[in-house]
Amino acid sequence: MFTVATAAQSAYIVAALLFILALAGLSKHETAKAGNTFGIAGMAVALAATVVLAVDSDIEPLGLGLLVGATAIGAAIGLWRARVVEMTGMPELIALLHSFVGLAAVLVGWNGFLHVENHLQGDAAVELRAADLLGIHSAEVFIGVFIGAVTFTGSVVAFLKLSARIRSNPLMLPGKNILNLGALAVFVALTVWFVVEPQLWLLIVVTALALLLGWHLVASIGGGDMPVVVSMLNSYSGWAAAASGFLLENDLLIITGALVGSSGAYLSYIMCKAMNRSFISVIAGGFGIEAGPGSDKDYGEHREITAEGVAELLSGADSVVITPGYGMAVAQAQYGVAELTRKLRDKGVDVRFGIHPVAGRLPGHMNVLLAEAKVPYDIVLEMDEINDDFANTTVVLVIGANDTVNPAAADDQDSPLSGMPVLTVWEADNVVVFKRSMASGYAGVQNPLFFRDNSAMLFGDAKDRVEDILQAL
Ligand code: TAP
Repeated sequence: MFTVATAAQSAYIVAALLFILALAGLSKHETAKAGNTFGIAGMAVALAATVVLAVDSDIEPLGLGLLVGATAIGAAIGLWRARVVEMTGMPELIALLHSFVGLAAVLVGWNGFLHVENHLQGDAAVELRAADLLGIHSAEVFIGVFIGAVTFTGSVVAFLKLSARIRSNPLMLPGKNILNLGALAVFVALTVWFVVEPQLWLLIVVTALALLLGWHLVASIGGGDMPVVVSMLNSYSGWAAAASGFLLENDLLIITGALVGSSGAYLSYIMCKAMNRSFISVIAGGFGIEAGPGSDKDYGEHREITAEGVAELLSGADSVVITPGYGMAVAQAQYGVAELTRKLRDKGVDVRFGIHPVAGRLPGHMNVLLAEAKVPYDIVLEMDEINDDFANTTVVLVIGANDTVNPAAADDQDSPLSGMPVLTVWEADNVVVFKRSMASGYAGVQNPLFFRDNSAMLFGDAKDRVEDILQAL
């Protein structure tokens, strides 16, 4: 028989398909916009079906009012934030949103316990236990709360680091790996205990343990590895949502959580490969990474250059490579950079761009900015495509990049960046670094590039300095 419930279930299947189409669309530049539209449509269908299901299940007017009110308020805040967020603020917003998913999973888990385990006594408990259902429910509660709480505090720390509210250096507690492994072992033991004998205090202990573990896992990871952490937390938030789906018996939440969980895990894996990091080490809070101080070394004196000096260098150059970073985004220098590129190409100079996979603050950040300023796609190359060419380049312009061009990653084993592939700009004849001061980059690590004989610093806001060079040209 066709009921409201079956209609809602069908709508859930449609929404699940739309989410799959969204992920497929987001995997390519050309289809990303369509992917986004599929995602929005899927979420609209899912929300509508959820409200219809609630009405059909004779929800009390107060409950319905809360549901609709919360949806409206959430949608209004979401729209407002999405409108005002700067592109450079995107990762921290995403981290904050992940923390909400984690918190929701904790609340759903606690609610599940208070409604079932805490209430069941006498025959009902015996019946459920006989059918083994109580044990399954308890495991779902415990695991859901654990994943949710780890995601919650982990995401809060990621938000604080990304928004520079706390330092991005890795926290190096003595025996940090033992602490993490110990916490996992205690979680497994407590889960068994809780399944056998669900008790309130066990749930309190696991919640506190997971909150601390989430905090410690992300605090232990250095700034340079934050891109991987954000995508890893994305994955955790998916598994937390899937765990809530089991508790709420909501198939769509299970499917959506699994989609987010697995795609986030795969993205983390791809990013780890690109950055030469061990996947297991990163998800285990920097397991096995014992970075040395690295930043206190004395690299000698740096040399400065003027905008006129750079214009002169560029006028006599055969080939120029521009490696942009986060500073170009902050200064919004991409339009001037595009103009400079046009001018130089008109003079017959070979100009290309070298893009590091984690330059800026989100995957593809630099590509988006350069496309916005209409820099032709065919001269924008990936790190692997350009790295062999630096030795034959007359001038490299490092515009607001720092960690992604740090030679210490290649030749200093004590550096927290050690092992991460970087743009080998120092192999060029001349390197000009655009930045405002000698401050370190996101990872908080000093950059020996600035002190090399073939490097010169052009201090000031990148946009102003690029305009000065254009004038001088
Ligand atoms: P960073 O290492 O972050 O360095 C950017 C540099 O830009 C800073 O040293 C800063 O120096 C300079 N700068 C800032 N504002 C400027 C302005 N208005 N004009 C001129 N220079 C300015 O940049 P990067 O090389 O792009 O590396 C990215 C870092 O972020 C990596 O460590 C990466 O792991 C991390 N991260 C990346 C992502 C993704 S997915 N891309 C996400 C999170 C974190 P001054 O202050 O001296 O000007």
